[in-house]
Amino acid sequence: MTPDEFRKTGHELIELIAAYRESVSAMPVRSKAQVGDVLGHLTEQPPQAPDSPADLIADINKFVIPNLTHWQHPSFHAYFPANAELSGVLGDLLSSGLGQLGLNWQSSPPLTEFEQRTCDWLRQMLGLSELWHGVVQDTASTATLVALLCARERSADFAQMRDGFRESAELVVYSSVQGHSSIVKAALLAGFGQHALRSCAVNDDFSIDIQALRLSLEQDVAAGKKPCAIVACTGTTATTAMDDIAAVAKLCKEFDCWCHVDGAMAGSAMILPEMRHLWEGIEQVDSIVFNPHKWLGVVFDCSVYFIRDKEHLVRVMSTNPSYLQTAADGEAPNYRDWGIPLGRRFRAMKLWWMIRCEGVERLQDRLRRDLENARWLEQQIEDTPHWRVIAPVALQTLCVVHEPPGVGSSQLDDYTQRWCEAINNSGQAMLTPAKVIDPVLVGSERDPNIWMVRVSIGSLSTEREHVERLWQVMQDYSNSASNANDPKHP
Ligand SMILES: Cc1ncc(COP(=O)(O)O)c(C=O)c1O
Repeated sequence: MTPDEFRKTGHELIELIAAYRESVSAMPVRSKAQVGDVLGHLTEQPPQAPDSPADLIADINKFVIPNLTHWQHPSFHAYFPANAELSGVLGDLLSSGLGQLGLNWQSSPPLTEFEQRTCDWLRQMLGLSELWHGVVQDTASTATLVALLCARERSADFAQMRDGFRESAELVVYSSVQGHSSIVKAALLAGFGQHALRSCAVNDDFSIDIQALRLSLEQDVAAGKKPCAIVACTGTTATTAMDDIAAVAKLCKEFDCWCHVDGAMAGSAMILPEMRHLWEGIEQVDSIVFNPHKWLGVVFDCSVYFIRDKEHLVRVMSTNPSYLQTAADGEAPNYRDWGIPLGRRFRAMKLWWMIRCEGVERLQDRLRRDLENARWLEQQIEDTPHWRVIAPVALQTLCVVHEPPGVGSSQLDDYTQRWCEAINNSGQAMLTPAKVIDPVLVGSERDPNIWMVRVSIGSLSTEREHVERLWQVMQDYSNSASNANDPKHP
């Protein structure tokens, strides 16, 4: 494609994206595609002769947009907000268009220096002290793997440079049963082994039970094992539970463990000074991961790993072959030594665009709007008979059950999934059904492991009117699902 063809098609594509954003609210939120629908439109063989960009755009309109699940829809309440501010989209386009690749400082000085600066902007936005250093990774999963590699090498006194794992006592990693699956995956990939992973019990608010954690640490020490890392969560995936970071950090000091905080989702909230009490003690931990590609609004993928001891990170990650050495080494960071990949994208460009175009205050206003909308919905649910929020609403996620008198306790799980699926099928909103241990049911005759519906609020365009409509839809669809349970309503 020549620059001139690029210019022409590029204008059309920008127009397509803008029109999509303007019209997305009228589309059904969840894709109605069946498996293979999209594949069937894609030719089995690669085209031998060039296709015209106009044909490609026609295909996007014909079978891509109609088959999307619309994450940018104002009634998208599934999973978590994966906001893609258009300002950051422009930054992403630019980073691709400039065709940069970071191998070392010299391979792209702006790539390195934008990353230095924007990570430090984020540090300030989160209220972290100057002792922290940030680096952009693709995802939280990668950042947590890097954290556990750092932990492993600290505990094993850099055994990777000698005989590796074989040298040390069994190293153990701790998190809570509510910890994200990426923690388990990272621990397995880092070689700890399934038997060296501890999933600690949680309190009624789904935060890690510090006494259970201590007991687990003590038992491992007594058995001759070596506690290596504790991964605490600021905002777990299912319920946005907040582990007591100060207490976990204290245990880490006592047992000489690495303390990593998974703030992938909830880290965004820390741009609000009034929310920082939720991770009190954060200055005492070793590393943090936070995903600007979630609620904050930087288009996927953009995850930031903050570490205090950057020299340790570089020691674990660096290789330094002669062909990558330059005169600038030592003067500027070589981010290839701060993570796993050698070649790095210019992700900081989209961060820079998003933060500059939106400004911190506008981002703060948006997050406060979402928190207020979540509190409003929580209040409606609490005020309405037979509805219940089963976990504290720390931020913008609500875990909801509806228990109408006509539905017996043995039918409730089916019923919950049915009304959630009915809403998702209707296209009017999208919610996530999920299983949790309901603290109210622990010790009762009912199985406490129940299905609930997770409502995540915080898409860019979600205003109060959308949340009001969602609440109406939830009541309408649950009513019709509960009537379906009644033999008089076949
Ligand atoms: C708390 C938490 N940690 C980690 C992750 C994994 O994020 P990523 O997709 O960036 O690896 C998620 C994603 O949902 C999450 O909610």
